[in-house]
Amino acid sequence: MPFRCDLVIRNATVIDGSGAPRFRADVAVEGDRILALGALEGASGREELDAEGQVLAPGFIDAHTHDDRAVLCGPDCLHCKSSQGVTTVVVGNCGISLAPTRLANRPPPPLDLLGDEAWWRFGSFGEYAEALAKNPPAVNSFALCGHMSLRMEAMEGDVYRPATDAEIARMQNRLREALRQGAGGFSTGLYYPPNAQAPTEEVIAVAEVLREEGGLYVTHMRDEGDHVLDSIRETLRIGREAGGEPGPVEVVISHHKCTMSENFGRSRETLALMDALGQDQPVAFDVYPYPAGSTVLMPDKLRQDVKVQITWSVPFPEMAGRDLDDIAREWGMTRRAAAERLLPAGAITFSMDEADVQRIMAHPRSMIGSDGIPHDAKPHPRLWGTFPRVLGRYVREIGLFSLETAIHKMTGRCAQVFGIPDRGVIRPGAFADLVLLDPARVRDRATYAEPTAPSEGILRVWCNGETTYREGAAHTTAGVGRFLGNPRRPQRA
Ligand code: ZN
Ligand code: CU
Repeated sequence: MPFRCDLVIRNATVIDGSGAPRFRADVAVEGDRILALGALEGASGREELDAEGQVLAPGFIDAHTHDDRAVLCGPDCLHCKSSQGVTTVVVGNCGISLAPTRLANRPPPPLDLLGDEAWWRFGSFGEYAEALAKNPPAVNSFALCGHMSLRMEAMEGDVYRPATDAEIARMQNRLREALRQGAGGFSTGLYYPPNAQAPTEEVIAVAEVLREEGGLYVTHMRDEGDHVLDSIRETLRIGREAGGEPGPVEVVISHHKCTMSENFGRSRETLALMDALGQDQPVAFDVYPYPAGSTVLMPDKLRQDVKVQITWSVPFPEMAGRDLDDIAREWGMTRRAAAERLLPAGAITFSMDEADVQRIMAHPRSMIGSDGIPHDAKPHPRLWGTFPRVLGRYVREIGLFSLETAIHKMTGRCAQVFGIPDRGVIRPGAFADLVLLDPARVRDRATYAEPTAPSEGILRVWCNGETTYREGAAHTTAGVGRFLGNPRRPQRA
């Protein structure tokens, strides 16, 4: 049957995102959807392209980002993600979301990862969604509502203590409203000083709203070092108790890792614990492919055996990209004193073991999430390199898992965990979020020294049927990303 459509991609090696083996096919796209898949001799497209030898995959879903503000800057701002094949970002992680919090003063860290008070101007999730619709970015957004953002409002900025019952009630009301206006879940960052003062019971009480409204619980856990096992138990308890009678709320452990040399190798224990507890409740985690983390600079958490590279500093912007030891030597002071002087600031910390990173990535529960921080002066290279690094270094060079498995962890698995319908998969009727890549050439080029070098081998990217990236072209971005809202799938095991 001859038919005409917008685009026909011929002779592609299709990796459909489900984890199933690759197959050869033509793919037809009409409007924002995949129309047909197979041997499409009768199809003719307004555009046709031959993808012989190239892999066609669903657009990547970045399971963990801090792009809340970057998605507001219109089509041109997320080149760092489009150039990796990303078509959807999950924002609002680690307890930090731009909505629904208005702030008059510079927020305390880590909220300031997203910017100073000028950016904190959304009184509700509805307002945030409206702003996105008015000037859409080149990627779709799935948004979480952050605990620390809720605390700032409910506790009137006095956040270095547990919340009272009245304040918890205020947070519940705001979270309920956010979930109704399109937030897809609730995130916490219990590791960070102000939120660390929130007892488990406070988090459970707020998270109970998920029971009626739907959505996941996503957490940067209280501890990723000595007490990582306790933190996993706490996280799963929050998922169980927040879900109550109808069944546990789905939990996602953010950027799973085991930090500090005395904990190297302990991913064997953490993964075994998640598998044991995960028999009775849904649990997933995201991970980025680097043995170094990055967040705000916290002088009292520094350790002599952990190398630190500065990513930004308000009083000393020229120190971005420099090693903290070198700065301290230059200033003739201790490392700790130099760190205090740089505040407010951000840093990369080399605190993990490569073997753990690989074991965590290879685990079937993992999703790939960049945790990139888009406004840092000299960001962690994960912002520009995460996805091509998994495909190049970990699939092609090291052989940690197959290309099918890697792509599943970037697409179908994420769509399934977050409950995003008709994305993360290539099949007729699904949205035309697609990435065409060269499996022999795909690789990251971003490094700690040159963190914003774009990847290689990502040939072309489509979001909702429109081209958002073309290798070698300076700007092909189209502002076609959508706010995905709260899919409200029943959060039951
Ligand atoms: Zn985090
Ligand atoms: Cu994060």
